[in-house]
Amino acid sequence: MNLRPIVAGNWKMHKTPTEGASFVETTVNLLLDIQHVSVIFAPPFTGLFDMDVPPPFYSAAQNCHWEEKGAFTGEISVSMIQECGAEFVILGHSERRHVFGESDDWINRKVKAVLAGDLKPILCVGETLDQREAGQTELVLKSQLEQGLASMDSLKEIVIAYEPVWAIGTGVTANNEQVELAHTSVRKILKELYPESYNIHVLYGGSVKPGNAEELIQVPGVNGFLIGGASLDVESFTSITRTVETVQMRTL
Ligand code: PGA
Repeated sequence: MNLRPIVAGNWKMHKTPTEGASFVETTVNLLLDIQHVSVIFAPPFTGLFDMDVPPPFYSAAQNCHWEEKGAFTGEISVSMIQECGAEFVILGHSERRHVFGESDDWINRKVKAVLAGDLKPILCVGETLDQREAGQTELVLKSQLEQGLASMDSLKEIVIAYEPVWAIGTGVTANNEQVELAHTSVRKILKELYPESYNIHVLYGGSVKPGNAEELIQVPGVNGFLIGGASLDVESFTSITRTVETVQMRTL
């Protein structure tokens, strides 16, 4: 299986629309020769409207509501995101789960709404440090995937991001063995849930940097990255993308 890798930058609550547009312009110009990687920018909602990027560049929202419209102050619907030209929506990020208390049931509704709107969910899963130390990593992944992907027709357009909570924004990266084991578990669970599922991207996220990207992208089962901190800086983001492109070209 040689899926085209994805490098996605999750900006979180960083960059105004003007800053975002200038970042994207600079980055795209530096990466015009990229042919084997899909590059995704996930700005805050306010930056999404003006983000018209040509493939292999795409934009993503960082969240959405599952209802189409209504009295949901502060929320954004799938069709609003769609009209901005985004292709992807990040869902179930650990900050949404742990800071904003999103439940697996909500995440499941969002995944379905995003698919119904012909966009692609990037569903994030991952264990906390306590859960890892208690030997519950696989259990947590199973529960998040089982509930987040409950009662779907197929997993065709879904991207999964394995992001151990303890590695997000901490500078601590999961080691190769931990990443490989977790990715193997994710794929095993997906197969159990949807036996016909295949060719699903499973990204790694958690303190990915220029210095560890080459090693991590070669871990079996890793089809790309979801990057927070290092996606905010032109040099780091382009460097990681180039590394993934180079490694991918070697496999072709
Ligand atoms: P990080 O964030 O790269 O800053 O660890 C990853 C993420 O939150 O997706």
